[in-house]
Amino acid sequence: MNTRSIRFRLTVWYAGLLALLLILFGGVIYFTLERFLERNLSDTLAKDAQTIGESWIRDIDQSPPGYVAAEIEEHFAPTVTGRFVRVTRQRDGSVLYWSGTPESGTFDPKQIGPKQFDVSQSLREEHLPAGRELLIFSLLFPDRAGNKYLIETGAPYEQVEHVLRELLISLAVAFPLIVGAAIGGGYLLMRNALHPMNEIATTAERITSRNLNERVPVVPTGDEIERMAVSLNRMMERLEDAFHHISRFSADAAHEIRTPLAIIRGELENALQAPGLTAELRETIGSALEETERLSRIVEQLLEMSRLEAGETLVERTRFDFADMTRTTVDQMRLLAEEKNLQLRFESTKPVDIEGDPLRLKQIVVNLVDNAIKYTPSGGWVSVSTFPQDGRVVLEVADTGIGIPKDATSQIFDRFFRVDKARSRQLGGTGLGLAIVKSICTAYNGSVTVRSGEGTGAVFRVELPLEKKS
Ligand SMILES: Nc1ncnc2c1ncn2[C@@H]1O[C@H](COP(=O)(O)OP(=O)(O)OP(=O)(O)O)[C@@H](O)[C@H]1O
Ligand SMILES: [Mg+2]
Repeated sequence: MNTRSIRFRLTVWYAGLLALLLILFGGVIYFTLERFLERNLSDTLAKDAQTIGESWIRDIDQSPPGYVAAEIEEHFAPTVTGRFVRVTRQRDGSVLYWSGTPESGTFDPKQIGPKQFDVSQSLREEHLPAGRELLIFSLLFPDRAGNKYLIETGAPYEQVEHVLRELLISLAVAFPLIVGAAIGGGYLLMRNALHPMNEIATTAERITSRNLNERVPVVPTGDEIERMAVSLNRMMERLEDAFHHISRFSADAAHEIRTPLAIIRGELENALQAPGLTAELRETIGSALEETERLSRIVEQLLEMSRLEAGETLVERTRFDFADMTRTTVDQMRLLAEEKNLQLRFESTKPVDIEGDPLRLKQIVVNLVDNAIKYTPSGGWVSVSTFPQDGRVVLEVADTGIGIPKDATSQIFDRFFRVDKARSRQLGGTGLGLAIVKSICTAYNGSVTVRSGEGTGAVFRVELPLEKKS
């Protein structure tokens, strides 16, 4: 998972914010409920004490002994409800009623501390062993004769704690569920929203100078991503226009230069035929003619490359045996190799049918074998092989020549690049041969690579798809 993606960051941000808000919300609920329950409990205790006072203490002098205790027992049943009740006479400290141990056994009434006769009413917390707490309300209540009685009513604080604990458990279960749902939902939502971005990136990645007519997909959602896709497409349109303009220009320029060059050549050839030329002049004209021929070749090659790059020359397509075509081409070039005293070998295991323009694909073989012969000193060998591999046809041209220095291998497919300019020029090279090979390979969705080191020979490997997909 990419933690730097917008999707991840937004989801984490929102989930974090939601969790924080939920914790705040839970905290507010918890403390509000705690206060409410406490007040509720103390109100109930006060009401009970008041009831005991008004119902039985006020007229205690008119009731038989044990009557108050029996009444309290009957009305409040403290042992059943888990409450604490104690009534004490202030004058002599004698206890009229003392509730027993509740059935739930939560506290022992005998442990409840000393009585307070000094205030008319108070609320106190009694701490019992085992961390228990009892909330006790005390009320000093007079009977008709003015004798005061301390009425104490209490209830375990546990009742409040129990509710609060339940609330905490509910919150602890609900919060992760809510946050989890928010994360899952947010992640899915973001994934759907950002999905077109990936497609746009994939398409944009695929677009090169040869398929500038492709466009990134536009999903009509009306959001920022749609706007970006539309803008990208408009930019691509402008680029395509500009690119076509440039390649048209190169092609036109090369085309225009061709005719005057042909005329110059013709005229120089005529001039050579003229009688009475001095040897010196003849040599000058001859050299000019040679240069003109070189220039014509360069112009032809440039024109061809412009066409290839503009994707114009791929209409010609036939099925033929690539291995057979390579064998014939190698045979045709055998004379060149023999002149340099080189061994030229060809190896092929079986026919490989390929779809494409035979003339153009032959040019790949010619240019590579020509280089291998040109850059291998006499006595060496050049080996050419073709074979199918993973749905592609592979052509390998290996030699035992001077090789290519490491730092130059990335540039040799550039136009006009030569490792040793002087030497290459001497050999008649212009540095366009490999650029053309690359253009053809690219036009056929293939590739060309080289393995070499200085002085160790070179192996050029071309891979072409068996079927041309358009
Ligand atoms: N088989 C090889 N062995 C060593 N160096 C090579 C080999 N093939 C190419 N090179 C180097 O790469 C450079 C570019 O090759 P490329 O075929 O593009 O141009 P060229 O052969 O100089 O000229 P052109 O092919 O246009 O006549 C060459 O000048 C040469 O330095
Ligand atoms: Mg060459």
